[in-house]
Amino acid sequence: MSPPRFVPAPKIKPLADDQILKRARQFYEAMRRRRTIRDYSDRPVPRKVIEYCIRAAGTAPSGANLQPWHFVAVSDAAIKRQIRVAAEKEEKEFYEHRAPKAWLEALAPLGTDSNKPFLETAPWLIAVFAQPFRTYRPARHRGAFMRIGRAHPHAESDGFSQQNSRATLA
Ligand SMILES: Cc1cc2nc3c(=O)[nH]c(=O)nc-3n(C[C@H](O)[C@H](O)[C@H](O)COP(=O)(O)O)c2cc1C
Repeated sequence: MSPPRFVPAPKIKPLADDQILKRARQFYEAMRRRRTIRDYSDRPVPRKVIEYCIRAAGTAPSGANLQPWHFVAVSDAAIKRQIRVAAEKEEKEFYEHRAPKAWLEALAPLGTDSNKPFLETAPWLIAVFAQPFRTYRPARHRGAFMRIGRAHPHAESDGFSQQNSRATLA
């Protein structure tokens, strides 16, 4: 195994306390304005923009830097339709049978239900596939499987079946 290679952190000019405070407040204000969106414009988005969004997501830290994910960007209308149909089937099952009463009560103020028209309206869907296992091939353990993540037990409430519960729609 090769030894770790350390890279010096970039030099950052120290700021005065009032500047640090100002930046902290601005960051908080920006985060405070962030909202969950459930209704989308159909305005086309250039593929390059989506590619940068996925690159940005790929910079997220991950355990041992294994980056255990795949992103699939979908703009094809027929495939978005198939995703909507499959998601709504699962969501209907969830809302009508699987969801505990307490969870439905918690969701009620949000006004969500099994209808997901935005899955066709949005110009792109980005599906995120987690890789909970990966083949690990050091010389002495050829072909061993290594567990690298944990699927969220309630991931299916995002519109996918148990069988596909490691995937969530973004
Ligand atoms: C793990 C997680 C799962 C969520 N699942 C859903 C969901 O299935 N449907 C939905 O409409 N919003 C979902 N949300 C969004 C939350 O409802 C939202 O963050 C919360 O109501 C606060 O609203 P805000 O994000 O606009 O501040 C989820 C958020 C998180 C962090």
